[in-house]
Amino acid sequence: MPLQLGDVVPNFTQDSTEGPIDFYDYAGNDWVILFSHPKDYTPVCTTELGAVAKLKGEFEARGVKVLGLSVDSLASHEGWLKDIEETQNVALNFPLLADEDRKVANLYNMIHPNEDNVFTVRSVFIIDPGKKLRLTITYPAPTGRNFNEILRVVDALQLTDRNKVATPVNWKQGDDVIILPSVSDEDAKGMFPSGWKAHKPYLRVTAQPK
Ligand code: BEZ
Repeated sequence: MPLQLGDVVPNFTQDSTEGPIDFYDYAGNDWVILFSHPKDYTPVCTTELGAVAKLKGEFEARGVKVLGLSVDSLASHEGWLKDIEETQNVALNFPLLADEDRKVANLYNMIHPNEDNVFTVRSVFIIDPGKKLRLTITYPAPTGRNFNEILRVVDALQLTDRNKVATPVNWKQGDDVIILPSVSDEDAKGMFPSGWKAHKPYLRVTAQPK
């Protein structure tokens, strides 16, 4: 059965551009964004990897490690990294798994045979420090991802883990949030001292907690 939200993700070992990786050791106590791309030396993937490298500071600020993957060889990755640096003006600053034997791709269901039975689709897994799967998104090969959206989800997950709130449509860092319906008004008074606006008893909007 494919991995589902809330599952503890499986560990693996695999070669990478930064040496052999034991996934649990690599993750440590951080969040991880594990993502696959279909193939080295392809245009969309080249732009994606450059964009992720440029977001390094944003990932670090959130305690997130990044790990890329395709079913290409280490030699292929190493050659392609030079192209990424040349065309995207940034050196890759996170490991890229060389999953030639498809060990990780199969474990994480990154090959969707009715789409392509050789290459991985564009999978994204957000994994929390407890190694639980918190989000998956799957994009088709011709569609480049928006990694700012993935950062936005990390912000929402970290905020809603710390506070009894949920994030409304199109929420972004600093916007108002929703008090969980499971919190009584009585309890909410202590948790949200600046108050809230109740549009309905189940729709209470408050400032984002610090
Ligand atoms: C790309 O990364 O450009 C790409 C890869 C596979 C299919 C289509 C596009």
